[in-house]
Amino acid sequence: MLFLYYSVTFACLFISLQDSVYASNIASRLARRTARHINGLAKDLNVALDVVLFSAQKQPQVQLTTHSQVVFCKPGTGSTSTGIPSASSTRTASSVASSSTGVAVSTPWKLVEEHSGSSFFDGWTFTNAPDVTTGGVVNYVDSGTASSNNLTQITSAGTAIMRVETTPVVTGNRQSIRITTNNVYNTGLWILDAVHIPSGCGTWPAFWTNGPNWPAGGEIDIVEGVGDSTNDQATLHTIEGCSLSSTSSSALGITGTTVTSTDCVSTGGGCGIRSDSTVSYGAAFNSNGGGVFTMTLNSSGIAVWFFERSAIPSDITAGTPLPGAWGTPFAWWSSPTCNISEFFGFQSTIFDTTLCGQLAGAVWSDSGSPGQAQSCATRTGVSDCVTFVQNNGAAMEEAYWEVNSVQIYQIPS
Ligand SMILES: *[C@@H]1O[C@H](CO)[C@@H](O)[C@H](O)[C@H]1NC(C)=O
Ligand SMILES: *[C@@H]1O[C@H](CO)[C@@H](O)[C@H](O)[C@H]1NC(C)=O
Ligand SMILES: *[C@@H]1O[C@H](CO)[C@@H](O)[C@H](O)[C@H]1NC(C)=O
Repeated sequence: MLFLYYSVTFACLFISLQDSVYASNIASRLARRTARHINGLAKDLNVALDVVLFSAQKQPQVQLTTHSQVVFCKPGTGSTSTGIPSASSTRTASSVASSSTGVAVSTPWKLVEEHSGSSFFDGWTFTNAPDVTTGGVVNYVDSGTASSNNLTQITSAGTAIMRVETTPVVTGNRQSIRITTNNVYNTGLWILDAVHIPSGCGTWPAFWTNGPNWPAGGEIDIVEGVGDSTNDQATLHTIEGCSLSSTSSSALGITGTTVTSTDCVSTGGGCGIRSDSTVSYGAAFNSNGGGVFTMTLNSSGIAVWFFERSAIPSDITAGTPLPGAWGTPFAWWSSPTCNISEFFGFQSTIFDTTLCGQLAGAVWSDSGSPGQAQSCATRTGVSDCVTFVQNNGAAMEEAYWEVNSVQIYQIPS
């Protein structure tokens, strides 16, 4: 199963090369750099095997560039096509939306992929393996196991649930979910409408996108946090050469604040920006009815917005999104300090929930970040994350995603 996953990822990249006349020496350079970075803060399962597969293909030349073409991959069949997929789930948004001022404006964005309702889980590949890259105490399970163990569910309200196993005591890993879209995109607009994000000590969920040959293809964390954090953190992870130009929010043109480093290199933990909203993550997000996260990726930059449920722009609700009308994003990374086309491409979209591991485990005794005035060690009275998680299944009851929809839009060429 693990092998299949890598094969699928690789097939997407390979086919796109065949179908396109891209040429540059970037790929082999990225592959060499990646090999040096394998021991970094890897969150992606691609790392080691992709490097091998990549090299085995005679060092194919790939330009990780923004391009309006969609690379469309079907797992297991090798069947791919470029262009906007005409799957039954595709629908075209109408071209007129009402702006917040009520003036009708046109949007160039077209819906190319949507996951919602009873078909939410169509078009994703379930990882069926332990969390080998971030060392979490979870076993990601296949879709059949997930469904029969009540870890995934479509509710009567039409929302999709992804849970962590709540068995009172386990000796090893808890079962959890990690799903990755089969389609990948070089540019686009991602919209996540979520009702509930996993929360509680030990949890480390994320909704993110990721390119091939990590970190060469780039990683964009849209929703991520640990434990009882209240503020979402968006982060980029790249190879060397991408950074934020400043630590000043006003200089960057963002409402959020920079955390960690301005250097996005994966070995340093990436360049994170924390949302200014105290209801953008965790229990605070959940009790507020959730909300919407949006991310745009194009050659100019990567932007992330958060809207609490009571403030979702009407153009989003109408299915005719207008990013230009959303105001200042909480996060924005841009050229010239990061050449987006060079560092990001072929992004698949991923949900996961891991427990402990390189982040939630490492910060178990830390305090002081928003929502974490006291450390988890203090609050739980348990000195390490793994012991707590293994022995307190009831504390995992809030460790679930509940999602209304994931939508991906593109501007057709
Ligand atoms: C699935 O789990 C949820 C949350 O624990 C529970 O409310 C629900 O009854 C369970 N459903 C089944 C079929 O076991
Ligand atoms: C790229 O995205 C940003 C943020 O959404 C937007 O302001 C800008 O107009 C876009 N640029 C292009 C060339 O589409
Ligand atoms: C950005 O990267 C792309 C793709 O590698 C390249 O074609 C372009 O020249 C780069 N732009 C700059 C300003 O370096």
